[in-house]
Order: sequence, then structure tokens, then C-alpha cells
Amino acid sequence: MCGIVGINGSRPVSPLLVDGLRRLEYRGYDSAGIATLVGGQIDARRAEGKLDRLAEKLVGEPLSGTMGIGHTRWATHGKPTEANAHPHRTDKVAVVHNGIIENYRELRNELEKKGCVFASETDTETIAHLISDYLRQGMSPQEAAAISLKRLEGAFAVAIIFAGHEDLLIGARRGSPLALGYGDGEMFLGSDALALAPLTNRIAYLEEGDWVEVYKDKAIIHDAGDKIVERKIHITALSGAMIGKGQYRHFMLKEIFEQPAVIGDTLSTLVTPDDILTMPQMPFDWKTVPRVTIIGCGTASYAGLVGKYWFEQLARLPVEIDIASEFRYREAPMPAGGVTIVVSQSGETADTLAALNYAKSQGQKILAVVNVPQSSIARASDIVVPTLAGPEIGVASTKAYTTQLAVLLCLALDAAQTRGGITPQRSKEIIHALHQIPAQINAVLRDEHHVQELAHHISEARDVLYMGRGLLFPLAMEGALKLKEISYIHAEGYPAGEMKHGPIALIDENMPVVFLAPSDNLYEKTASNVQEVAARGGKVILISDKMGIANCGAKLFHSIAVPTADNAVLPLLYAVPIQLLAYYTAIAKGTDVDMPRNLAKSVTVE
Ligand code: M6R
Repeated sequence: MCGIVGINGSRPVSPLLVDGLRRLEYRGYDSAGIATLVGGQIDARRAEGKLDRLAEKLVGEPLSGTMGIGHTRWATHGKPTEANAHPHRTDKVAVVHNGIIENYRELRNELEKKGCVFASETDTETIAHLISDYLRQGMSPQEAAAISLKRLEGAFAVAIIFAGHEDLLIGARRGSPLALGYGDGEMFLGSDALALAPLTNRIAYLEEGDWVEVYKDKAIIHDAGDKIVERKIHITALSGAMIGKGQYRHFMLKEIFEQPAVIGDTLSTLVTPDDILTMPQMPFDWKTVPRVTIIGCGTASYAGLVGKYWFEQLARLPVEIDIASEFRYREAPMPAGGVTIVVSQSGETADTLAALNYAKSQGQKILAVVNVPQSSIARASDIVVPTLAGPEIGVASTKAYTTQLAVLLCLALDAAQTRGGITPQRSKEIIHALHQIPAQINAVLRDEHHVQELAHHISEARDVLYMGRGLLFPLAMEGALKLKEISYIHAEGYPAGEMKHGPIALIDENMPVVFLAPSDNLYEKTASNVQEVAARGGKVILISDKMGIANCGAKLFHSIAVPTADNAVLPLLYAVPIQLLAYYTAIAKGTDVDMPRNLAKSVTVE
């Protein structure tokens, strides 16, 4: 949450900062701001709301300078006003910050007693005053930054500029990511490599506790103990063009339509064209693993829940699953030799990273399913099996989810084959079915107008229920999450078998109920639930195959037909109408699909 960028260069820096912030806007869009050094003095422009407001302001009030910092905010401490927008500054320093300073109240009290006057409600402003206080005591910028950073508790990534020091930018990370970009005669800092993609492809990732002096032609990196250290420079494959929307109106729609391609790309690294698994060598033996634990947040946790069904059904391997924010504090006992699978698109989710560290402390081997290869989660894991979804910019996760499913199914098959829980024939059948998924998703996408028609009705609802069983139950929760986050309609996902234990009381003629009911071994059970809702006047929307729709026998408000496929791969296929339904409902309601209110793509604070 919050995106930061810093540039120490020789070209006018304002447009470059704004461009970098545009690539980070997915991290937060409550306010934005930049600060530069002009004639040795700090000057800044800030604006409430989305980045466009700042860009407009800069047209009327341009900001010169060749060195500066920028920020796009997801508010934690203090309302999303201009006064609380970053950079926060004194006459000596300006700071941008991603994270939360937990001891800011004590520090603020201490500094106020010394006469510092605060202009915002933020925790970040404390950093600016603290460093300034040490500068006033005669310390150099490097000394003042180093000592101040040690006094901060909590999580942060920061970029700092100093009045009178035209060639010094300082960055630091603890708990929040920070990338260092190497250019020719200019250097960069950014929350991720994507922000820096048009500027450089040479990126080093700061380690936990690192801080860095960034000059125009070099960087000096210090570890948490102030020792000078080297960090490897990676050549990233990201290009500035990768984040365009192309012909699509929104990133989310583009990303939904990319699914056939990126699922294909992901599968090509895990299976051969003739349906043989080619998984990387695991740093453990599936045969002796007593239990798998799967952890994630939001959509990633729902992908993990599907993974649990696969591991248990195919590999006969017990799985515990939890959302990371609960798991990290639960103090769960974990068995010797256990494996923890951490699922995350960004690889930076604070709760997921903390849960990973807990599992590590319990002696678990860590397997990461992440979309950002150099992310904190990837680097903290024993093995990474990546999703090759490419940058996902829309806040609502779509292609990351289906590629996570593809990887989790291949992992479950790998475990099943090693443990002898599956016949070679059955394994081949499932992989063959996986290979058909991209084409089948294309068929669903071609029929999107059916979903569009339905979305107009759903947009008028106050609440929506989603029901599914077995492998489709996690998708009911995912469908409800998608709808909530971008259309602001209240929705719940339930296992269909639980309906009679409470939610059926909600059914009336105003309540749309979306059933995910393929013609599988559980079809008849779910079809009975469909009847029960229809009998009470509920608006049944049935997502099924043609046979399931024909055999249902109940009065349907609407139906969406999905191709028939092997039961094992259905979660990948049924995800698509669910995503389209959320998308077109949001369009009908006129909400901001890619930047829904209050949300941010990457949740790097607790
Ligand atoms: O980057 P991660 O996969 O770790 O993010 C986890 C959740 O924050 C994320 O899936 C969130 O729930 C999405 N907005 C859902 O669409």
C-alpha cells in the first residue's frame, strides 16, 4: 500500500516521477505528491484524490529540479486530504513513506516538546521531524537518517531528500519493499520494478533492514547494522509498455481476457504438450510430508482452498488452510517435515509474509506460488513455483487467481504421483483437461454478452448470495468477493449444503442467488438447493453446463452455460463467468473498476 518513487538524475524529474507514480497507483489513490530540490531548497506539490489531480496541478504550478521523490497514498493515519498527502517535509528534509510507524505517537510527543510543529495527522511526518532534529544537532544526512531509522518501530519503505544536498537521495526498507534502479548517470528508487520499468531494467532489491545512499552514479547500500553490503543486480524482463490497457476499457477486463494466454504460459512450465508433469525438483519428498499448510489472503486464500480439495482428493495428503492474518497470531503447532504453501500475487502482502516467517520458525519448508519473482515472499521461500500471469494491475484479482489454480493443481498432481495416490492414466486425463482450459475459457469469453445482460439486473440488487459445493465452494466465496470489491454490492459465498443452516432465511423475491452447479457427482444435491430457493421466490441464476441447466427443473431467473470439462479442472473454467459478472455489474453501477474505493492492490501493511 502506498507507492514511492525517487530519482537522482540530470533530467527534469517531475514528469518522470509522475510517470513512475502512475505505475504505482494500483497501490493506493487517496492522494499523491512529489517534492524536488530546486536551487538546494525543497519544493513540493501535493493533491488530494487520484494522480490526475496532481498532474493537473503541475500544469498550472510546474516543479523544476533533477532530483526528487514521489508518493501515491493509501491512507492509514489521517484522512485522505492534501495536508496528509506525502511528501512530508521540514525546511531540511522531505520524506515519502509506505508502511506504518507504530511508535509515532511517542516520537511525536518527544519532538513537540522540543518545539517541532506538525502540519499533518500522519505517522510519516514524524520521520521528517526526527531526521531534522538530528541534522540540527550537527549530524550529516547519512548519520541523521541512520540513527532515525533505528528509532522507528513498525514497517516502512522510505525515500528522503535533503535541502542543500543536490546529489543525495536516501532510501530504506523494513517490512515494505524497495527496489533500487541503476541507470546511466542517474539512479532510482521504487516500490517495485514496474515503477522503474521505463527508466531501467537493472534492479537490486534491498534486503530487510537495508538503507541506501543513492548518488547520480552509484549507490552505497548498508545493512541493518550499517555495514556496507552488496546486493545483486537483476535484469528484469518488465517493459514500460507492459502496463498499457490496450484495446480494453479497464485493466480488469484486459486481464480477464488474458487468461487463456497466461494459463497456457504457466502450464507450459509445468507440463509437456503430451500431458506429462515436469515439475521442478522439490526441496522435500512428498512421500514423507505429514501435512501441508496453505496460507494466503483474499483471492489467494480462495485459490488455496481449492488447492486443499485437490491435495486431499488426489494426493490423500492432509491440508490445513488459513487466512494469513489469523494464522500469523494463532500459534498453530506444525508437524516436523511439514510443507507450507504460500499463495500471493504480489508476493508482498504483509500478513502473508508474517505467516510465512512463522511457518519457517516452526521448521516448515516453504513453497511459494507467487506472480512477482523477486518479491519478498519469493525471496524468503525455499522454492518458488511461479504463476506467469504478468503484471496484474486491476485491484480485483483475476488472471492471478486462475494461474494460481493451475499451479496448485499441478503441485497436487506432483504430490499424488510421488505418493502413489493416483494412477498414471488419471493423472494424464487431468493434465489433458488442463490443456483444454485456455480454449474453453475463450468460449466463455465469446459468450460474455449473456453475462452483460444479467449484470444489469444484478446491479439493482442490495445483496447477492453465491452457492457452490466441493471444488466450486471456494469459487462461491471468490465470486462474492469480486462483486463486493468492485460493485459495492453486499455478497456472501456459502457452501450450498449450509443454506438450510441459516442463509435461507434471507431468500425473498429480491435476492439473487448465483449457483455454481456443474453436472458432477454433487449436482443433484445442489439442484435440490436450487429448488428450495426457487420455491421461496428467490431469483436463481444457474451457472452450469448445458445438461445441468436442462436438468435443473426449477424456474430460473437466468442461466449461464459453461463448457463441459473434467471435474478436476472446473474451478478454472467457472471462475471466468464469475469475474465477468462482477465486472459488468460494476460497469452498470458506474463504479471505478480498476481503482475501487478504499482498496489497494498490494496490502503491505497489517
Ligand atoms: O498480492 P496477494 O495475492 O497476496 O493479495 C491478496 C489479496 O489482497 C488479494 O487477493 C485481494 O483479495 C484482491 N483484491 C481480490 O480481488
